[in-house]
Amino acid sequence: MFQVVWLVTSWLLWALLTHAQVLVDFQVTQPPPVPEDTKQCTIQILQRTFGFSYGDPEIVQFTPPTDCGPVGSWAGITLNFTVTSNGTQYDRLGIFTFQNVEIWRTSTPEPTRGDGIIWTYIKDVTRYTTLFSNPGTFILELDNLLETGLDGQYTTVLHATFYASSVNHPPASHADVIIPVTTLANNTGDDASVPPIFSLNVTVPRNTVGIYAELYASGNADEEMWYWDVANEYLGDLPSFGFGPFREVRMLVDGQLAGVTFPYAVIFTGGIVPTCWRPITSYGALDLPTYFIDLSPFVPLLTDGEPHNISIDVVSAETNHSINANWYVSGNLHVTTDTSSKPTTGKLTVYDVEPFAKTTITGVQSGLDVNVTVTATRSIHIEADIVSGSGAHTHVVWSQQLQFSNTQYWLDNATFQNIAQTASGTFLSTHNGMVALQDDFSYPLFINYTNLNPEATIFAVDINHSYDRTSLPSPFILGSTIHNQQLTSGWFELASSGNFGNGTSNNTFSYADRAGNTYSREVGAALNNIIYDHQSGSLAPNAPPHFPSFSPQLSMSSTNPRLPGGR
Ligand SMILES: *[C@@H]1O[C@H](CO)[C@@H](O)[C@H](O)[C@H]1NC(C)=O
Ligand SMILES: *[C@@H]1O[C@H](CO)[C@@H](O)[C@H](O)[C@H]1NC(C)=O
Ligand SMILES: *[C@@H]1O[C@H](CO)[C@@H](O)[C@H](O)[C@H]1NC(C)=O
Ligand SMILES: *[C@@H]1O[C@H](CO)[C@@H](O)[C@H](O)[C@H]1NC(C)=O
Ligand SMILES: *[C@@H]1O[C@H](CO)[C@@H](O)[C@H](O)[C@H]1NC(C)=O
Ligand SMILES: *[C@@H]1O[C@H](CO)[C@@H](O)[C@H](O)[C@H]1NC(C)=O
Ligand SMILES: *[C@@H]1O[C@H](CO)[C@@H](O)[C@H](O)[C@H]1NC(C)=O
Ligand SMILES: *[C@@H]1O[C@H](CO)[C@@H](O)[C@H](O)[C@H]1NC(C)=O
Ligand SMILES: *[C@@H]1O[C@H](CO)[C@@H](O)[C@H](O)[C@H]1NC(C)=O
Ligand SMILES: *[C@@H]1O[C@H](CO)[C@@H](O)[C@H](O)[C@H]1NC(C)=O
Ligand SMILES: *[C@@H]1O[C@H](CO)[C@@H](O)[C@H](O)[C@H]1NC(C)=O
Ligand SMILES: *[C@@H]1O[C@H](CO)[C@@H](O)[C@H](O)[C@H]1NC(C)=O
Repeated sequence: MFQVVWLVTSWLLWALLTHAQVLVDFQVTQPPPVPEDTKQCTIQILQRTFGFSYGDPEIVQFTPPTDCGPVGSWAGITLNFTVTSNGTQYDRLGIFTFQNVEIWRTSTPEPTRGDGIIWTYIKDVTRYTTLFSNPGTFILELDNLLETGLDGQYTTVLHATFYASSVNHPPASHADVIIPVTTLANNTGDDASVPPIFSLNVTVPRNTVGIYAELYASGNADEEMWYWDVANEYLGDLPSFGFGPFREVRMLVDGQLAGVTFPYAVIFTGGIVPTCWRPITSYGALDLPTYFIDLSPFVPLLTDGEPHNISIDVVSAETNHSINANWYVSGNLHVTTDTSSKPTTGKLTVYDVEPFAKTTITGVQSGLDVNVTVTATRSIHIEADIVSGSGAHTHVVWSQQLQFSNTQYWLDNATFQNIAQTASGTFLSTHNGMVALQDDFSYPLFINYTNLNPEATIFAVDINHSYDRTSLPSPFILGSTIHNQQLTSGWFELASSGNFGNGTSNNTFSYADRAGNTYSREVGAALNNIIYDHQSGSLAPNAPPHFPSFSPQLSMSSTNPRLPGGR
């Protein structure tokens, strides 16, 4: 095991660096736990500059390498997405689809003008080994717009690296079959826009014995800042959208609720005060979290050889559960099959599920203040007996307990717009008493936003955002515990001569997985400069990253920020 600890100070880099001042953006995360001491095969998947690319994704054919051991026997697979940009542009969503399965959802850091920005994100896609074992269509949808005032293009290159397995690094476990729950489009990214509910007929192999569903979901447009939306009853003239701040992503099988998640609030790099997210993006902005639910209790229903209706939607705490437009959702089913080709049988024995969470909305309005609290709790309990074609009996117990609370303080006629939100929960499934899937999570989010002038063109924000999660997505995907806390503070002014602002960001991250890999990082930035950076653990790189330094002044940003109410 390899351990390093170091400190990078901006004065040191100032002394070391003489070349161009390209801003190196990054999201704090663990380096993928893939072996370094094994043969690697790196293949370029695509290269593309996304200028005016609305409705014009990059579509390529991808064939797996044959010179890093037998196809499908790899110890791991990673993607390297490296992008440069220069100019003014919004953050844009990026959807990577392979064989009609969404395999990575990202977003772009907003560029700066002059020397521009660069970022690299190394994404672990080992869990999609089943897909990468066959050639197929690979699509990157990155809908960018060029128009007056928006000239930033995203110049991208994407490589895949396959790590040969060896005695020390066995082939990665993976599903036998991965089934998309997507639009199945071949000419664009395969995520669906909801509302209304998205449904697809899916037929699973008749010898399926386990199904772990993975959900992708992110709020967009009027739903980008869903945590800031106000319950309809209290919306009045507040500068926000309605339908309140509670969002539940649901998956249904033939109209029966099978599992849910209370999503983590990913703040994109244009979010609120863009200068807060330079060069350290908000957690999840380059690699949006996904959520797993155990669909195995529905195996006896699904293995009849017929198509079944699988649905994904996003609902609120309002009476009719509506939301604004829109969320992008997709799903995929990681399926395990029996050695026998005989159909699986069995039955669902316990189904203790309500279609919607229990919610409350309470508010108090007094003078120029409105305080509103929305809460939700949810409990799901499902059991089934599964009999495989080869005769194995499995008793599956799937349970979810979730809690949510969001209090918004709209004070002094919305001069102050503060949020205290937390979503937490426990997902647990056991198969014959053995833990098959687990997710213990807590996503606290505190935002204090202050308008500094009556026109609301100068504003400041303080954010305290955490991602604490112990997750075992399935018996064959590596489980991990992640703690991340991000404290950011920034100030911004909208001006006709060009917006500008500043920001600081302090990040504390730790990772440990069930294979014994560890990583931790403490990194802080102020005014575009990294001011401290300590990394340690078995996955830490053996050389410190290089960050150019910038003169400590307000950074210019002519990009508009994303604000509540779409302002
Ligand atoms: C990622 O790709 C970029 C561009 O090809 C390359 O410069 C960089 O070295 C790669 N990083 C890793 C860790 O492979
Ligand atoms: C970025 O674009 C500007 C024009 O807006 C140009 O002057 C500058 O040279 C470009 N920088 C790089 C690194 O290409
Ligand atoms: C995409 O292509 C696949 C394979 O040719 C086909 O089965 C599917 O129907 C196509 N999807 C759409 C939406 O046309
Ligand atoms: C799904 O399949 C059923 C028949 O099994 C059919 O009645 C239904 O129209 C199909 N739905 C869609 C959306 O294709
Ligand atoms: C699939 O189920 C959803 C949720 O119950 C429902 O809205 C939709 O109409 C169903 N689709 C079909 C084709 O039955
Ligand atoms: C839900 O109710 C709101 C008003 O409370 C209304 O604006 C909206 O259209 C309703 N949505 C649906 C799908 O009926
Ligand atoms: C709203 O919350 C703020 C901050 O806690 C408090 O000072 C204020 O009195 C509350 N207003 C009402 C009407 O309860
Ligand atoms: C509250 O703010 C709105 C929007 O800025 C403004 O039109 C209104 O006059 C303000 N109300 C009071 C009582 O200050
Ligand atoms: C927001 O303000 C409240 C009340 O003043 C304070 O307790 C909290 O720490 C602040 N949160 C942040 C993220 O600054
Ligand atoms: C940030 O929030 C956490 C709860 O998630 C709390 O324990 C901590 O005190 C807060 N820190 C600051 C600086 O507000
Ligand atoms: C981040 O830490 C620095 C000290 O290293 C401090 O000056 C700054 O206020 C902190 N920022 C936030 C948002 O906590
Ligand atoms: C950001 O700018 C504001 C306004 O000039 C100033 O009050 C604040 O101290 C600055 N913050 C930092 C971290 O420099």
